[in-house]
Amino acid sequence: MEKLLDLLSDEVGAAFEKAGYGKELGRVAVSNRPDLCEYQCNGSLAGAKQYKKAPIMIANDVAEFLKESKAFEKVEVCPPGFLNLNLDGDFLKDYLNRMAVSPKFGLDAPEKRLKVIVDYGGPNVAKPLHVGHLRSAVIGESVKRIIRFMGHEAIGDIHLGDWGLQMGLIIAELKLRKPELPYFDESFEGEYPKEAPFTIAELEEIYPFASKKSKEDSEEGKKFKEEAMECTFKLQSGVRGYRALWKHILNVSVTDLKRNYDNLNVTFDLWKGESDVHDIIPGMVDYMKQGGYAYYSDGALVVDVKEDTDTKEMPPCMILKSDGASLYNTTDLATIMDRMEHYHPDRMVYLTDKRQELYFEQVFRCARKTKLVEEDTDLIHIGFGTVNGSDGHAFKTRDGGVQRLEYLIRDINNQMFQKISEGREMTEEEAKETASLVALAAIKYGDLSNQASKDYIFDIDRFTSFEGDTGPYLLYTVVRIKSILKKFAEQKETADIDSLVDIADGLHKYTNESEKKLCMQLATFNAMMESAYAELAPHKICAYLYDLANAFNAFYHETKILSEEDEEKKLGYLRLLKLVQEVMECCMDILGFSAPDKM
Ligand code: ARG
Repeated sequence: MEKLLDLLSDEVGAAFEKAGYGKELGRVAVSNRPDLCEYQCNGSLAGAKQYKKAPIMIANDVAEFLKESKAFEKVEVCPPGFLNLNLDGDFLKDYLNRMAVSPKFGLDAPEKRLKVIVDYGGPNVAKPLHVGHLRSAVIGESVKRIIRFMGHEAIGDIHLGDWGLQMGLIIAELKLRKPELPYFDESFEGEYPKEAPFTIAELEEIYPFASKKSKEDSEEGKKFKEEAMECTFKLQSGVRGYRALWKHILNVSVTDLKRNYDNLNVTFDLWKGESDVHDIIPGMVDYMKQGGYAYYSDGALVVDVKEDTDTKEMPPCMILKSDGASLYNTTDLATIMDRMEHYHPDRMVYLTDKRQELYFEQVFRCARKTKLVEEDTDLIHIGFGTVNGSDGHAFKTRDGGVQRLEYLIRDINNQMFQKISEGREMTEEEAKETASLVALAAIKYGDLSNQASKDYIFDIDRFTSFEGDTGPYLLYTVVRIKSILKKFAEQKETADIDSLVDIADGLHKYTNESEKKLCMQLATFNAMMESAYAELAPHKICAYLYDLANAFNAFYHETKILSEEDEEKKLGYLRLLKLVQEVMECCMDILGFSAPDKM
């Protein structure tokens, strides 16, 4: 379905044409003087030179033809030549009625359905998720949903960090602590135990312990690091016991990760990791050497990725270190190759901290240069900013440690539970469920409403407030609508709100100014979604939702709805409410949270 602004531009463009001017001058924009008018067209000023005429004369000519237009209820010429426009009520009503019954509220299906892999989450096995992992998960999930909502195929891949030195560190430490395990007995030929020889809690304790030890400048530290590298090497070369132990580490960790991501309403289609491409690295390396792309420099195998137009330093992309070991680069390139072979995506989108920007630039250039991807395969990195505490520094616990995501979410849930249990008629069960929905919206909206590339302050008190630009405020607005509809159904002694209030029966022409504003905000949905998709920017959906909630609440405070005596008018209001609810819930779903029935 056409976007409202395009329709209005066509209308004004036609009037320019009839008056003898180019129709491209008829571009309409939302007014930057809302006190004067709703929309404006500045084409007369742009055309003055070309037509050698005063803008005001052009505007007057055009305005004459716009009198016939059904799109505007007011057309005013304003010196030196602006066209100030207000939308016609019936035109708006018709537009909304079409939108209300169109699939996806009037968002057109794409001309070509693309296949997109979204690489997000990116946790490292055996390391607990911390607040830094929040953004990749939350933004990535929403980006995936935006792509899907547009009508494309999106495949979410978690791309686990499950292969490097960190695995060797854990194995080396386990070997010290439990040398009697069969995994370390190279002559063992039997079947290894099904049960992992550790719990997730132990694993999470082992990793930081081992990592710290390996960095110590003592004899013991150095020896341990060597041992860990040896373990990594053995694991990667396929030593049976090490592989079996690694599988346990992976399973225990993935079970825990799934639980954590489930709590965030984040799900992945693929749980692949760096380890999955281990076996194809040698083939890729050969290919890069044979193609003349890769060469040895100081013992390391590299591919140049500099371009003539570069203004910044662009180091070569290292494929193998001088000891022959592969790197983070190597696994990412091999993953690209693997994805091209098995999924053949049109695009790959990566979500990481923006500090990896240069890294991805190198990897993408390298993939292009070595023709791992096709010429028109789109490779996109979305780099996000840091989550800061209220002191403006990276978010920490009160004692200065790294905040575990799980505990952070638990604390916010508890805080919400307190708030919701106070003075509300709800069972404990209900209050808990509601609290977790509200907490999730608070956290996700708090993150998503910021432009991804910006740092933001994780301000729990602000995020959880029921007022202002917050998740809970949006939920509250939907809950308000639900409760009005429910009350109406109760008055009519039915539980079937849907047949009682059916949007398809038609919305009415607005009856007051705040209702008109609300309708106009609703009508920009498809344009907003298109631009959120074009920029893969969930914050645009957030801004739309917030404006919609504000427009609704202004209308609600100004309008008698349930006490309206004219039954037809009342139904008109209620249908509008329902459309607002549906659009809001659709946007929330794309952002990855949802509203309770009560709060
Ligand atoms: N595990 C990585 C890290 O902790 C993030 C992975 C991001 N995805 C990728 N394809 N490199 O930094």
